[in-house]
Amino acid sequence: MHGTNVTVIGLQWGDEGKGKVVDAVAHRCRYVVRYCGGANAGHTVTIGQERYALHLIPSGILTDGVVNVVGNGVVFDPAVALEEIDELTRRGVKVGPHNLAVSGCAHVVMPYHKVADRLAEQRLGNGKIGTTARGIGPCYADKAMRSLAIRVCDLLDESVLAERLRQIVPIKNETLAGLYGAEPFDAERLRREYAEYGRRLAPMVRDTGGLLREAIAAGEPICFEGGQGCMLDIDHGTFPFVTSSSVTACGVPAGAGVPPKVLGYVIGVVKCYTSRVGLGPFPTEQDNEVGELLRRRGREYGTTTGRPRRCGWFDAVAVRYAADLSGADELALMLLLDGEGQLERFRICVAYELDGRRIEKFDPSLPLERVSCVYEDHPAWHEPIGQARRFEELPVEAREYVGRIEQLTCRPVGLISVGLGRDQTIIHRSGWIESA
Ligand code: IMP
Repeated sequence: MHGTNVTVIGLQWGDEGKGKVVDAVAHRCRYVVRYCGGANAGHTVTIGQERYALHLIPSGILTDGVVNVVGNGVVFDPAVALEEIDELTRRGVKVGPHNLAVSGCAHVVMPYHKVADRLAEQRLGNGKIGTTARGIGPCYADKAMRSLAIRVCDLLDESVLAERLRQIVPIKNETLAGLYGAEPFDAERLRREYAEYGRRLAPMVRDTGGLLREAIAAGEPICFEGGQGCMLDIDHGTFPFVTSSSVTACGVPAGAGVPPKVLGYVIGVVKCYTSRVGLGPFPTEQDNEVGELLRRRGREYGTTTGRPRRCGWFDAVAVRYAADLSGADELALMLLLDGEGQLERFRICVAYELDGRRIEKFDPSLPLERVSCVYEDHPAWHEPIGQARRFEELPVEAREYVGRIEQLTCRPVGLISVGLGRDQTIIHRSGWIESA
């Protein structure tokens, strides 16, 4: 009914645990494809005692037989990608053309993008976004601007690269010096550095859209791996406190170069609470000891930046919207925690209130900083749950909490994660994973 493909996307503000879900489905797929974002993403996969933090390389790299694709919609930082490849190789994971393909049409994040990102944020002071400073916004801005952009294919031809940099670098230098008094970049040094990246990456650079369309024609299963989360989507998130790409399932066709109808089964990933990095409204935030407890228990510190994440209760209003927008067939519920003897209750936000009005439907133009939350309280459970492998082994309070999330989001919970390990997973009511 859903075809053989699967799309795994975040339904909150990122960091939902998508890496673990992709790892759980990758063995059934021939391809795992990133289609949005860049090195701002941080996907963590834990195998035994080994923890892998991936930023640009898709999470399928740890599964034999999977071809990992960095699609055209990604902004690609070759320095970060090659560092990641070297680190994986050092740890015994072989990376090469047999398991990694990078789109020649992906746009390249250059050092001046990172400088522009950092300095713009500094200049904005209290008005800043709280970006990851990975150059994401400035690189997508150049993509939209076109004339100042460099794509991965440009790195493969030294004369093209030299010509592009000869045009672009003086403009970047003048702009950055004029706006922020920044030091100039040396076009020739950049050419040498990025040509070398091009030489190393060349065997892996492909027409990835064409590759995927051939795979579709051959019936080979694909997993589309989302970055960030719906509420950080440039169009549908909490603008302007968002990232610069289309991170929902709606972004897959354009960002991967495939027709919309091939998304397949959509798994929306959520945590049993909410976290957010960076600035911007966060209705269920607990800027108190509850938030501190959630942060400690969920190890909520950024994979990419190490920043402590803001934490709060599960927001069913936002998740229902995100699930509807991406057409989620089921939820994967990650980081199911226990109350650890310190939390008496888990709260779920079931509606917002704004100027005396009850709001049950999320609208991305709402003044979210002014809404208050209507909560429902659920008794916390205190027994450790990390050993549970079947739904029935969870405490009754936890089972009721999961059931209530299903009701409020109108989706079955397919998978429940009770710890970091690959095996710490309960397959509950999955229409996709169970049928493996
Ligand atoms: P940028 O993508 O670096 O421009 O950051 C814009 C906003 O998105 C900031 O609030 C970041 O903290 C947030 N963000 C970007 N990528 C991620 C992610 O992978 N997880 C969580 N937040 C992210």
